[in-house]
Amino acid sequence: MKKYNRYLVTSALPYANGPVHIGHLAGVYVPADIYVRYLRLKGEDVVWVCGSDEHGVPITLKARAEGVTPQDIVDKYHNIIKTSFEEFGISFDIYSRTTSPVHYKTASDFFRVMYDKGKFIEQTSMQFYDEEAKVFLADRYIMGTCPHCQNDRAYGDQCEKCGSTLNATDLINPRSTITGSAPVMKETKHWYLPLDKYEQFLREWILDGHKEWKANVYGQCKSWLDLGLQPRAVSRDLDWGIPVPVEGAEGKVLYVWFDAPIGYISATKELTPDWEKYWKREDTKMVHFIGKDNIVFHCIVFPSMLKAHGGFILPDNVPANEFLNLEGDKISTSRNWAVWLHEYLEDFPGKQDMLRYVLCANAPETKDNDFTWKDFQSRVNNELVAVLGNFVNRALVLTQKYFEGQVPACGQLTDYDRDILGELPQLRSSLEENIENYRFREALKDAMSIARLGNKYLADTEPWKVVKSDPDRVATILNVALQITANLAIAIEPFMPFTSAKILKMLNIESFGWQHLGRTDLMAAGHQIGTPELLFEKVDDSVIEKQLQKLADTRKRNQVEESGGGKIEPQKDTISFEDFGTMDIRVSTVLAAEKIAKTKKLLKLTIDTGIDTREIVSGIAEYYTPEELVGRQVLVLVNLAPRELKGVMSQGMILMASDPATGKLVLASPVDKVKNGATIG
Ligand code: MF3
Ligand code: ZN
Repeated sequence: MKKYNRYLVTSALPYANGPVHIGHLAGVYVPADIYVRYLRLKGEDVVWVCGSDEHGVPITLKARAEGVTPQDIVDKYHNIIKTSFEEFGISFDIYSRTTSPVHYKTASDFFRVMYDKGKFIEQTSMQFYDEEAKVFLADRYIMGTCPHCQNDRAYGDQCEKCGSTLNATDLINPRSTITGSAPVMKETKHWYLPLDKYEQFLREWILDGHKEWKANVYGQCKSWLDLGLQPRAVSRDLDWGIPVPVEGAEGKVLYVWFDAPIGYISATKELTPDWEKYWKREDTKMVHFIGKDNIVFHCIVFPSMLKAHGGFILPDNVPANEFLNLEGDKISTSRNWAVWLHEYLEDFPGKQDMLRYVLCANAPETKDNDFTWKDFQSRVNNELVAVLGNFVNRALVLTQKYFEGQVPACGQLTDYDRDILGELPQLRSSLEENIENYRFREALKDAMSIARLGNKYLADTEPWKVVKSDPDRVATILNVALQITANLAIAIEPFMPFTSAKILKMLNIESFGWQHLGRTDLMAAGHQIGTPELLFEKVDDSVIEKQLQKLADTRKRNQVEESGGGKIEPQKDTISFEDFGTMDIRVSTVLAAEKIAKTKKLLKLTIDTGIDTREIVSGIAEYYTPEELVGRQVLVLVNLAPRELKGVMSQGMILMASDPATGKLVLASPVDKVKNGATIG
């Protein structure tokens, strides 16, 4: 057994193209948080780094779709993600981002060192190019039919339907996701990491050296290695990313999977000037928490990069989890099929630990699992309320009732008392062994066993009955019950930190360390405890029904969309009354309309707004003839900044509905006739 003197824990950097959902939490962040909190309680030297992954094609695509810059997208989601993690008690030592200046420099330098050592192959190849948009089509910029399952919406890097990893050239009938046009082939130069050269090293390091890794992780590594590794491009033709730091690389950036894991190093640098001891000393234990879709990058690619660069340690373990499904279906950001963390925090304020508990109890450690709201409800009601909350409440309320909140002295212990207390050190060892081997579900069971033990103890000793005949015995019983409560507060801290803090507050104790777990002298006789409060409330059916209704609405929208009904846009961010009030919308009448020469879509309309007569250019020529429009009442946003279109100063916007299925535009008008200039609001 190697002896480690410090820990470096990383968890996958979430993409800043959407908020975090329960799948991310159960797979990566909750287990990592448990692990790190445990190490900290033990007084270990540990740093835990994370941050937003802000490069890559999905982010640029989303920006394009929303008509904003990639920087706008990552700023928005980085803030949502960071805030929701904090509120949920995910206790990173640093949550950074890959657009930070330190990261740019770290990733560039990393590439440069590898480049100077001759670790890359430079190769020119033919790649898809969109002549209309004038860009090379990397990864998700290209779509086509999957050669394996015929799904006609497969991407250039992956088919989401059958899960196969693809090369863009595998696609049948490829098309550009930017313009929809058929791409041409064009020559481009890229840098490749020859993974085949690292096969021997990886085999020895993983297959011989890390047989203790989880079966799913070890198995995936073995099959990758058995299939044989190939050189992988580490650059892309994109304008969003970290520029390739060599000459003759204009328009090229580092591939997102090259820069992102280096983000772990950058974040550590930002955290502490002492970062090198975590990354370069062999007595540091590095652990990567990730989901199963990240295994190849963390076990094969990143270690090869670290090795090629030189001077860095390798991970001791990569405890990747499988996936969490939601109500029987795969969680999907694009299909909005998820329970979003920021929404949970809004719907369940102050109830972080309920979700932390359920996600750990049901974590997809060895196989995919399903999250259902029914299961959430029954775990909260039957386990948190009935077992944990109930025990703590009884111990504290009885102490208030019989001893005015002062810890009673422990008299003579019975054999039964000793047996019960004797289980605490055993539960501690089991819990430690489980956490240290990344079996967090089992570890949580051990922690909960302390509450079960307490409940059993009170049920068996019945202090509420004994109090009449033997008050001294009741003193001992409650002393024991309070020792168990104190142990419970320590044992659940990694899993449910908010509840642990509440118990400590009720016990009127500042803090405990892990070394106190298993001890039976934690609550001194005479110590005054605080007022008992309920730790958990039952989850009512109505609460669950509301969540299920939300999912049912999403399912319906997706069905309409997938059956060709078009995409119903999700609701935009909330605005204030004042925001709405800034829009001046008036009922107006079209006085005249004419086509604008040399355009297909544009009409020039003369409008009576009630305020004035003005001209507006509108893109509706494909749907309405000028004759159809004259004399009609329409709604006009009159205080939109004027702009020039085809030589006409357009002063406002005609409001129209856009059919989700066909994109067809339909005029919005008042249902009954009103005077021009009538306001809308
Ligand atoms: N953003 C990636 C994902 O969500 C994970 C990146 S992990 C890192 O799948 F190591 F690259 F940072
Ligand atoms: Zn497929």
